Amino acid sequence: MRPAHCIEDLRQLARRKVPKMFFDYAEAGSYAEETLRANRVDLERIKLRQRVLVDVSQRDLATTIVGQPVTMPLALAPIGLAGMQHGDGEILACRAAQAAGIPYTLSTMSICSIEDVAGAVDKPFWFQLYVMKDRGFGKSLIERALAAKCSALVLTIDLQVLGQRHCDARNGMTVPPEIRLRNVIDIATKPGWALGIARGKRKTFGNLAGYTPSGANVASLASWISSQFDPALSWKDIEWVRSLWPGKLIIKGVLDVEDARIATKTGADAIVVSNHGGRQLDGAPSSISALPAVADAIGAETEIMFDGGIRTGQDVMRAIALGARSCMVGRSYIFGLGAGGQAGVTRAIEIIRGELDVTMALCGINRVGEIDRRVIAQL
Ligand SMILES: Cc1cc2nc3c(=O)[nH]c(=O)nc-3n(C[C@H](O)[C@H](O)[C@H](O)COP(=O)(O)O)c2cc1C
Repeated sequence: MRPAHCIEDLRQLARRKVPKMFFDYAEAGSYAEETLRANRVDLERIKLRQRVLVDVSQRDLATTIVGQPVTMPLALAPIGLAGMQHGDGEILACRAAQAAGIPYTLSTMSICSIEDVAGAVDKPFWFQLYVMKDRGFGKSLIERALAAKCSALVLTIDLQVLGQRHCDARNGMTVPPEIRLRNVIDIATKPGWALGIARGKRKTFGNLAGYTPSGANVASLASWISSQFDPALSWKDIEWVRSLWPGKLIIKGVLDVEDARIATKTGADAIVVSNHGGRQLDGAPSSISALPAVADAIGAETEIMFDGGIRTGQDVMRAIALGARSCMVGRSYIFGLGAGGQAGVTRAIEIIRGELDVTMALCGINRVGEIDRRVIAQL
């Protein structure tokens, strides 16, 4: 892999290596992408307070997330179809996260299944659940995650209906799947990617094998799956999940203060303040602008995680300063995966770690627990 000094370098590398259809799928937001852009713009607007002549020789990024020791306040977010950015992408990303001492979250919509990943790594990972119309299937996924000894269940609640990404429609990620000459030529010019996918364990949604219609490919399955999401999902279903999952429960996709208050009453160990990376409600506020009010509204017994737009260690600092205990990254590591498989994900994590470490030093901070609103510059 070529040297990468920042996440943008990894993004550029991934753009060259991954077919346009899948690169666009990873990068895009829904509709006019207002919320996608706001996630970045609002993070960049927050200025950090430079402090000098503080002894910062004892810096330590280690902390805990839902009680689990981590080497830095970061986890890899669940990403559907990660295995289409690179063959066996989920296994490679999980290995990179575990070697770096941070959690990896496997999506319900992954290519490698829960069992594929469990069989290929030696430590527990997190599993992300979408509760779909067929509750029996949801229950079986929870049981599989338990059998695989997953150390947390991340329950995503902001996708009862699917936001549209225009590029997916344009690129033929729709039904019926469109095998366009453009896509075929594109894939032919990315032989490294094609070889990796050909050698990978699976080519379709691993967790849904045996449940989805037979003979369908990734594109037609995506549409079938979207019809399986349940617009009737309610907080009662969250209680049902809580009753089935005895371990750590993380509710992902809260943006509103009222919802955050309700979420804390479900017995969740953490909530993730998230707008799904700007892929669902376009026009929703950026995650970072929603974070302070949520942090003020809920008590210390429920941890706050944050995601949406994090591309640097400075962004992690900003989110923690505004009330998060830890962050998740999606695209930052997915670009790494597309750029260089496991080594690329490792590089993405190293980049963010290095940036956070230096940022802490230049803000006069030695420990993650010391970061609070005082590190934000008052403009
Ligand atoms: C390509 C892609 C696929 C995603 N798939 C899922 C998913 O299957 N489940 C889920 O809970 N969130 C999913 N998300 C949302 C991420 O978990 C996370 O909230 C988001 O990526 C954070 O924003 P960031 O990419 O700017 O870091 C996906 C995001 C992207 C970019």
